[in-house]
Amino acid sequence: MSFLDQVEPLKQSALAELRAAPDLAALEQARVNYLGSNGRFTALMKQLGTLSKEEKPAAGKAVNGAKVELEASLVARRGELELKAAMPTEPTDFTLPGRRRVLGKLHPLTQVTEDIVRSFRKIGFVVADGPEVEGEYHCFDALNTPADHPARDAQDTFYLAKAEGGMQNAESGPQPSTLLRTHTSSVQIRVMEKQPPPVRIIVPGRVYRRDNADATHNPTFHQVEGLYVDRNVTVGDLKGTVEFVFKELMGPETRIRFRPHYFSYTEPSFEIDFSSALTRKMGKEWLEIAGCGMVHPQVFENVGYDPEVWTGWAFGFGIERIAMIRYGITDIRLFYENDVRFLRQF
Ligand code: DAH
Repeated sequence: MSFLDQVEPLKQSALAELRAAPDLAALEQARVNYLGSNGRFTALMKQLGTLSKEEKPAAGKAVNGAKVELEASLVARRGELELKAAMPTEPTDFTLPGRRRVLGKLHPLTQVTEDIVRSFRKIGFVVADGPEVEGEYHCFDALNTPADHPARDAQDTFYLAKAEGGMQNAESGPQPSTLLRTHTSSVQIRVMEKQPPPVRIIVPGRVYRRDNADATHNPTFHQVEGLYVDRNVTVGDLKGTVEFVFKELMGPETRIRFRPHYFSYTEPSFEIDFSSALTRKMGKEWLEIAGCGMVHPQVFENVGYDPEVWTGWAFGFGIERIAMIRYGITDIRLFYENDVRFLRQF
C-alpha cells in the first residue's frame, strides 16, 4: 500500500476511537495509541523521511492535515468528558429551594460608633486615635490631674509591671509608670502635641478601668472623645454641637441640659443630661450621658498652645451607655459575650 493510501484509513480509525472514548482514561489511551511517541500515527509520520523527493510534498500535506484534525477531535472530546465528569451523578431536583447564605453584621457597638462618627463628620470633625497602653503623663499629668487624684490610684487604674531595674534610679528619680488608658482624653494631648491649632477631632476608642464586671460596669469599655480648638470658641459652640449630635443619635425631639461639674482638664466643666422618648421609656426624664467643658488654660500650656490666643472645648462619653439606652439593653456584659442570638438582633 502506498504511503498516501495509509493516511486516510488510519485517520478514520483514530477519529472513531477518540470519539467513542467513554471517559477521560479511555481517551488518554486512544491518544497514546495513535499520537503517543510509539503511536501508530506517529509511526506513519516517521516514515515521511524515507520517501522520495517527488512523493514528499503531497504526503507531508496529507499527514499534517490529518494530525490537525486528530488533535482538534481530541480537544473536543476531552471538553465533553470533563463536563460529564463534573456533572452530579445523582439526579438533581432543580426545583428545591436554594441554600441560604448567612450574612454577618456589624457589632452593635461598632454600629453606634459609626453613627457617632458619621454625625461629627457632617460638621467637619476628623477621627484621631492614640495608644491604649499609655504613660501617666498623657493620661493624667498633661491633663492637669494631680498625683493624688483618686483616678490615679492603683485601685482604679491598671498599671503595667515596670521593667526590671526600672523602679527607682538614683539619677533620674522615679520612672514614669505605664498603664492602660482610663479614658480617651489622653488622645487630646497626643494630637495637640503633634499639630498646631485649629483642631477638630473625635476619638472613638477602648479604655480600661479596674472595675468589677456587673450590669453597668466592665473592666474594658469604649468612649468617644471630642476636642475643638480655635479662636473665640465658646460654651455656646459646645452646647450647639452636643445638641446637634445627640438629636442625630437619639431622635429629633431630644433635649439636652448642662449641669456644673468638675474635671481637672476643663474650666468651667459640665455634665450633660439628655431627655427623649428613650429616657422616658426608662422611667426618667433626664439621664446623664457625658462630661465636657472649656479646655483648661493649663492644658494648653502643657502642649505649647498659647491660652491667650486659643480657646476650645472637649467632651467625653461612653459608647456602651449610648447603645444600651438606644436599644434598651440592661446588662453591659452582653456586648462582650459574642452570643449570636444577642448580636443578631441589631
Ligand atoms: N474623661 C472623662 C471620663 O472618662 C470624660 C470627659 C469629661 C472628657 C470632660 C472630656 C471632658 O474631654 O472635657 O469620664
